[in-house]
Amino acid sequence: MNIILSGFMGSGKTTLAKLLAEKLDMKYVDIDEYIQEKSSLKISQIFDLYGEGKFRELETEAAKEIGQKDNYIIATGGGTLLNSENVNSLKSNGTIVFLDVTVDTVLRRLSNDTSRPLLNSSNKENAVSVLLQGRLPIYKASADISFDANSDDTEKKANDLIKLLNIQ
Ligand code: S3P
Repeated sequence: MNIILSGFMGSGKTTLAKLLAEKLDMKYVDIDEYIQEKSSLKISQIFDLYGEGKFRELETEAAKEIGQKDNYIIATGGGTLLNSENVNSLKSNGTIVFLDVTVDTVLRRLSNDTSRPLLNSSNKENAVSVLLQGRLPIYKASADISFDANSDDTEKKANDLIKLLNIQ
């Protein structure tokens, strides 16, 4: 079985996935990193050169391939699980954990970030707020568990989540 971390940009999926993999002696894969390695392009370059549609195709292909793996902690991209095809690819062999964060948390963590094309707006607060509110019900619908991820204490979050999932 796999553990799949879902949630908005800046919810801490990648950092938490790495630590969980270490603690649980499982392997780790990040869907964005997987796409970048396979295409030899940064996510922002894929958006710039080919558009969001092409990125979503690559993401769906990656979710399919990664869904075949076992004993992995999988960090999704913030948009991966908005597509039910990707949910199906990943959920059949895994538990989906939704990392729930507020708009304030996202803004605090990503204030200086320029690597997320969807947030490169002159009004970042508005972009985060609109996108997050629209996505919340979709994230929740695919999740097996929702987990408050507003704390920056990754060690504590990993330990709490391990307890919640009742593993180890
Ligand atoms: C996206 C989130 C990003 C990346 C891409 C699109 C989204 O991943 O996949 O920029 O639609 O929310 P992170 O959530 O890891 O930043």
